[in-house]
Amino acid sequence: MEKFLGKKNIAVFISGRGSNLKSLIKYSKKKNSLIKISLVISDTPLAKGIEYAKNSKIKNYCFKSKSKLKFEKKSLELLKKNKVEILCLAGFMRILSEDFIKKFSNPILNIHPSLLPKYKGLNTHTRAIKNRDKYSGATIHRVTKKLDSGEIIYQKKVKIFKSDTVNSLEKKVLKVEHEIYPKAIVKFLSNL
Ligand code: GAR
Repeated sequence: MEKFLGKKNIAVFISGRGSNLKSLIKYSKKKNSLIKISLVISDTPLAKGIEYAKNSKIKNYCFKSKSKLKFEKKSLELLKKNKVEILCLAGFMRILSEDFIKKFSNPILNIHPSLLPKYKGLNTHTRAIKNRDKYSGATIHRVTKKLDSGEIIYQKKVKIFKSDTVNSLEKKVLKVEHEIYPKAIVKFLSNL
């Protein structure tokens, strides 16, 4: 990929609420942003987050297909057709196949609600609270065939207080997620 030849063409995959998509759209609209979001795909019908794409007139698709193969085939076609250069997963809860990652061939980034390599997979906040961790946080990393294990691009910690619950921790981490996803993209692009 060439460095800074105009804004990078980004697609975002979501599965639900879409608050990280909202923060990426907000960043993309800044005059000096390095990205433009051309495509949003949800693997869940009625994903609330798709409204953010609609409101910003970004091409969007909600697939109803339960089959991973069908979802990936249709998505790949759209990514190629729209000449997407970077795919950002934002609360996307499906594990992409090795075949998809190979065929897309451009970088895929993901946001994860823990300080990776700690707590890969689901229920990260429950595990952090249960283990009485002093810190949690969020991570942006490259997506590889191994779950939540690709190169770490950006991380930010949050302190866990004794009074924190799974809910309060989720809120704190989410706030940090919104702040760092755009920063991670800038860092990633600057290092290309
Ligand atoms: C976020 O906390 C994100 O880190 C997490 O889901 C939430 C989605 O929120 N992603 C994962 O757990 C991926 N394994 P959002 O839909 O409001 O962005």
